[in-house]
Amino acid sequence: AEPTPSRATRALAGFTRIGVVGSGTMGAGIAELCALNGLDVRLAVSRPASLESAPRRLAASLDRRVAKGRLTPEGRDAALAAVSVGTDLGDLADRELVVEAVVEDEAVKLAVFSTLDKVVEPDAILASTTSALSITRLAGVVQHPGRVLGVHFFNPVAVLDLVELIPTLLTDESVCRRAEEFVTALGKKPVTVGDRSGFVVNALLIPYLLAAIRMVESGYSSAESVDQAMESGCAHPMGPLKLADFIGLDVVAAIAEALHAESRQPLHAPPPLLSRMVEAGILGRKSGRGFHSYA
Ligand code: 3HC
Repeated sequence: AEPTPSRATRALAGFTRIGVVGSGTMGAGIAELCALNGLDVRLAVSRPASLESAPRRLAASLDRRVAKGRLTPEGRDAALAAVSVGTDLGDLADRELVVEAVVEDEAVKLAVFSTLDKVVEPDAILASTTSALSITRLAGVVQHPGRVLGVHFFNPVAVLDLVELIPTLLTDESVCRRAEEFVTALGKKPVTVGDRSGFVVNALLIPYLLAAIRMVESGYSSAESVDQAMESGCAHPMGPLKLADFIGLDVVAAIAEALHAESRQPLHAPPPLLSRMVEAGILGRKSGRGFHSYA
């Protein structure tokens, strides 16, 4: 059963006020998870349109939990009331932990970290959900890099247990410990790994997805056959092309670029077919079309 939050926020592993920057798939999932655990969540969005769409999507997701009998209507109302949305990063001033979940673009993330550093209290933790960018480089624009680490959730946040924790060479020991206690209290299973592009999961997953795309690109196999092979032959919940569509082909391409920039290995280079699909706006499930159709 879902935890039932009360209107009065409560501390979770010593944290009460959480900030989330970005209301995409990951940011929205993390905000919802925190709200369901009784935390006070401030969600900072970049586009004014998200001021209306982010609460609407949160309400729809909570309603699905109620419909499945996993959450009471009171729990839904409390979780909804626990999340406030705004466009000003300055509103995150009183947050004890801020999770950055903006687009996988280093320039955008650096700008967010630089601003957050000036806004929050000196003992607040700044976390990034980047998949493949350097946490150390993000920490480089922060006055006290000891407070920065990677906290990498997986999609769907509500379903998948793993959180990769990525301290840099400069992260304070106490920051690692507090982050580990926090994600454990959220019900997740953390693994702590070093700051290398892709960490563990994407360093292994992305070359696999790219290899599957190359099978389709070369005409060796259809997307349907590749997916069926891995679903029926290896018991994966989704074949690699369905999974690439689910992650978003733009996100897969961005992670591949970052992995390739660090490793220079051909296995990390985005196949031209992937790049062309992204340029064409064929982004997978979210655009209605990817290797499969979602019309
Ligand atoms: N929010 C909440 N619950 C969700 C959900 C969501 N977004 N999506 C699915 N669920 C729940 C459903 O409610 C259902 O719960 P129930 O069985 O208790 O009713 C359960 O998950 C199964 O969902 P469905 O029956 O709808 O569908 P499937 O059985 O096909 O499961 C899936 C869907 C959970 C997405 C499954 O296909 C899966 O695990 N796929 C692999 C996902 C994966 O590998 N993600 C990692 C991507 S990599 C990443 O995130 C890192 C990044 O850096 C790229």
